[in-house]
Amino acid sequence: MSVVSLTVNGKPVSVETEDRTLLVYFLREQLRLTGTHIGCDTSQCGACVVHVDGKAVKSCSVFAVQVAGAQVTTIEGLARDGKLHPVQEAFRDNHGLQCGFCTPGMIMTAVDMIRRNGAMDRDTIRHELEGNICRCTGYVNIVSAIEDASKRMTESAEKAA
Ligand code: FES
Ligand code: FES
Repeated sequence: MSVVSLTVNGKPVSVETEDRTLLVYFLREQLRLTGTHIGCDTSQCGACVVHVDGKAVKSCSVFAVQVAGAQVTTIEGLARDGKLHPVQEAFRDNHGLQCGFCTPGMIMTAVDMIRRNGAMDRDTIRHELEGNICRCTGYVNIVSAIEDASKRMTESAEKAA
């Protein structure tokens, strides 16, 4: 057992956990942040993507002890002051949600890819989404949502500059 201290969604957290606890179980079972989903447990599906120090990471592929000291953001930490993140808004506006199971991972992956690439075309988005599986196979609206969000966020960043 180790005490893991880190920041989750902006709040400092110190929790005792077994050294073999995967980050996804740490978040879901110990911190009760169940928005991060488990689809495959084998780092294939992307349902468990969270941000570790701003980068998208499959939380079933790292141990909680490995992220000690890091800033972790989950889907619960994306909205600010009661306002949805632009990627969340774009998923709503473009009907990117079906059963919603893959949605948290898709959104966390999308935020990271937009940060790195800015506005993207559909081919780039599809390539970037390679590690995220939607069992409803509704990729068309998901790609539209990310394309829309990438344009909106890039335009608002340009206006602010
Ligand atoms: S549960 Fe982590 S990638 Fe599927
Ligand atoms: S919306 Fe159902 S798994 Fe993707």
